[in-house]
Amino acid sequence: MSTVSETYEGTIEREIYSAPQIAGAIEQLAARIAADFAGQPLLLLGVLKGALYVVTDLARAIARISDGPSEVIVDFICVSSYGNQTRSSGEVRMLKDTTETVTGRNVVIVEDIVDNGLTLEYLHALLAERKPARLSTCVLFDKPYHRRVDVPIDYVGLQCPDEFVVGYGLDYQELFRNLPYLAQLQPWVFST
Ligand code: PRP
Repeated sequence: MSTVSETYEGTIEREIYSAPQIAGAIEQLAARIAADFAGQPLLLLGVLKGALYVVTDLARAIARISDGPSEVIVDFICVSSYGNQTRSSGEVRMLKDTTETVTGRNVVIVEDIVDNGLTLEYLHALLAERKPARLSTCVLFDKPYHRRVDVPIDYVGLQCPDEFVVGYGLDYQELFRNLPYLAQLQPWVFST
């Protein structure tokens, strides 16, 4: 039986951001968000599946900061636009709505990556209709080269190169999400 690390062996072209670099970016995002919502309740809304690590790491980083929000609640929404492809279909599909009520709350949408921007635009419009007290957006990896819509991003972690990237929540055909770093894949992976 092969292991996960054997399956990934030989697939990584290069590491783009190491795990410590990502952790540092999350700490900085947490500091900014904690300051902006000091003394107020906060709903962190992670966008599954890609944001599974960033939202949980962000929530814990905020908890380590004194004088931050009065409470932090984590919820998830699940949408998909890429399916098993490396290019977005351009159509965002809602797979799971929030569990928490958004109306009247301070909400930060937490995304792993923004590429063409359609997913975040869809979510921002959807949630704005529900009349939150305040609606902000937080993105760990900003990939601005192929933006099709102008989406407001309040908190940006790191710039992403114009490559198809995997790791720290980002997948190729559902694999590689559990790499602890951001990576570019070797070209042969896309032909198998
Ligand atoms: C990815 C990513 C973002 C979105 C960004 O999700 O997690 O939600 O694409 O792309 P865009 O700015 O071009 O719309 P995906 O649809 O691949 O689903 P996943 O998070 O489950 O992998």
